[in-house]
Amino acid sequence: MAPVIGGDINEAARLLLAGKPVAFPTETVYGLGALAENPNAVAAMYALKGRPRGHPCILHVADFGEAARWAIIPPPAQKLAAAFMPGPLTLLLPAKNPAAGKTIAVRVPQHALAQKLLQKTGGVFAPSANRFGKISPTAAAHVRDEFPHADLYILDGGACAVGIESAIAGCLDGKLFMLRPGAILAEDISQTAGMPLSPPPNIAAPGRLQTHYAPRKPLQIMDKNTPWQNTMAALSFSRPPNIPPARWRRADTCPQIYAKKLYALLRELDKTNAESIGVETPPATTAWNAARDRIFRAAGVAPTDGG
Ligand code: TXA
Ligand code: MG
Repeated sequence: MAPVIGGDINEAARLLLAGKPVAFPTETVYGLGALAENPNAVAAMYALKGRPRGHPCILHVADFGEAARWAIIPPPAQKLAAAFMPGPLTLLLPAKNPAAGKTIAVRVPQHALAQKLLQKTGGVFAPSANRFGKISPTAAAHVRDEFPHADLYILDGGACAVGIESAIAGCLDGKLFMLRPGAILAEDISQTAGMPLSPPPNIAAPGRLQTHYAPRKPLQIMDKNTPWQNTMAALSFSRPPNIPPARWRRADTCPQIYAKKLYALLRELDKTNAESIGVETPPATTAWNAARDRIFRAAGVAPTDGG
């Protein structure tokens, strides 16, 4: 068995409705979808990903209006949805049917193919379409590389525009908090909701483990004063003199473009003959918060600036 990459949205919808996992593009990263109302489909998706069942997945819908079937929508969440959905934001909300879990995370992707697909299928649970603990895919070929032997349809929507996973904001118990930083900044979320951010409650979720999003080779955070070993591959703003060009990728100075390319570049460097990957730290400013979070986690060290 090998995955099929294609552009047939009707085929993707047909397979999802028939209970098969299907990979699909969103503007953040590719998702591994399963029809939300089909427990066998959801079980098959967890098995393929290798994700423990205790780790819940985000519900994807075409329109936030559909979320009312699954979640209780407090007023600040309504404001956030009006401002940022469709888009790279996930809201963690109280579940309407707490039997399956007290909370549910809801996202409305903006990617045109994701929109069309979800309009045909209704709610779809989808984690990022990588094997558990690995970096998220931002192109159809990355998904194929993650599941080379799976009977899986991969809907090809090109390279993801945002390139890192959605920001996750929680609206629970009258509080607003960030669970994962993303392209939508925490300060904008707080301002739009009209509420200050509280510290996140201690929710167990794989995105919050330090060693999530890891490439195969060890990843080391570098700064200007760290000497680069010549056995490394490098992602940096200028090429360290002792790293050959074949093992170097230029880091973009614009945080949005950096994020868009980050995972694809880490996958390229992971395929070189280097012993490890060095990543130069981006500036410690809010615009870089999400990208810093992902590289610090990939290196297995906590982010230095919260989030
Ligand atoms: O951009 C994204 O959010 C992508 C695309 C495909 O939409 N999805 C994604 O899903 O990144 P995933 O499962 O790889 O990461 C979602 C994170 C996980 O850490 C998961 O445990 C957490 O959100 N999460 C989902 N539902 C939750 C819940 N009810 N309570 C706490 N954490 C939850
Ligand atoms: Mg993931």
